[in-house]
Amino acid sequence: MVELPTRHLLDIASLADSSIEKLLRRTAALAEGAAVTPIDRTVANLFFEPSTRTRVSFELAAQRIGMRAISIELDRSSSTKGETLSDTAATLAAMGVDCLVLRHPETGRCHALAGEIGPGLALLNAGDGSGEHPSQALLDAATIARHGPDWPDLNLSVIGDIRHSRVARSGLALFRRLGAGRLRIAGPPELLPDSAELPGVEVCHSLPEAVDGANVIMMLRIQRERMDKAGWPDVERYHADWGLRETVLARARPNCLVMHPGPINRGVEIAADVADGPRSLILRQVRMGVFTRMAILEWLAGGLPAS
Ligand code: NCD
Repeated sequence: MVELPTRHLLDIASLADSSIEKLLRRTAALAEGAAVTPIDRTVANLFFEPSTRTRVSFELAAQRIGMRAISIELDRSSSTKGETLSDTAATLAAMGVDCLVLRHPETGRCHALAGEIGPGLALLNAGDGSGEHPSQALLDAATIARHGPDWPDLNLSVIGDIRHSRVARSGLALFRRLGAGRLRIAGPPELLPDSAELPGVEVCHSLPEAVDGANVIMMLRIQRERMDKAGWPDVERYHADWGLRETVLARARPNCLVMHPGPINRGVEIAADVADGPRSLILRQVRMGVFTRMAILEWLAGGLPAS
């Protein structure tokens, strides 16, 4: 079979405006039931960190567009025998894998691997440490485009552990490029990024301040796995200060929408009634994730249909 032109999805900065536009348009069409042409390619999921949504939705997305999808069980793979990641990637490519979906705890690992592998293997960053998570950003943008305000009217606050969040990093970069009206972040000082890191984004220092006037709020989980145990916030204190509850949400615009990439920690960053309430887009994000990943895989496999 002919090798794929080498195209990767590593971060938002290296995605061309035209690709962003095409991917979002195709995602919207797929969500409306657009037809797909089966693609005779193979995708492998290689996840060095736990995942439910991202891994399963890549697997389902691949199946829905006729690709073969395999998920490699790490505890049964040769990485436990000391094989390097680039050797694992080369081995998979030699077996005919065309596209590798990688999640890795190390920030930048996916970019590094892109420089190590030969042509013909498309690489998709499904989350690298605290780095980037471009497919999540695209699915969040597709969800906002479908259910939320137009980009210039968007008044979005991302709240929680921003410092360790690849979702926030990729999402804010993408929303900014799409022309978002106002972007804010908020969280306890130790969970905020260095100020230069997110240009064009305002920093708020309390939950009410961040919620005030917002029409979309994105809550984030505390990424305990990226912190020393000593730095873990006290759950009750955290919920009192930063947990999104109906009473706090009352300060936002009427009909303000609530997003969360999942997994949610009920009673920590978000109250159960908010997560399950009428403003919550959480399961819509998950559903959009499958369509977004179908579009991404079609794009990596050589081009999107015109729809
Ligand atoms: C996020 C991730 O893995 O970065 N989850 C996801 O992909 N849906 C957020 C998180 O784990 O908190």
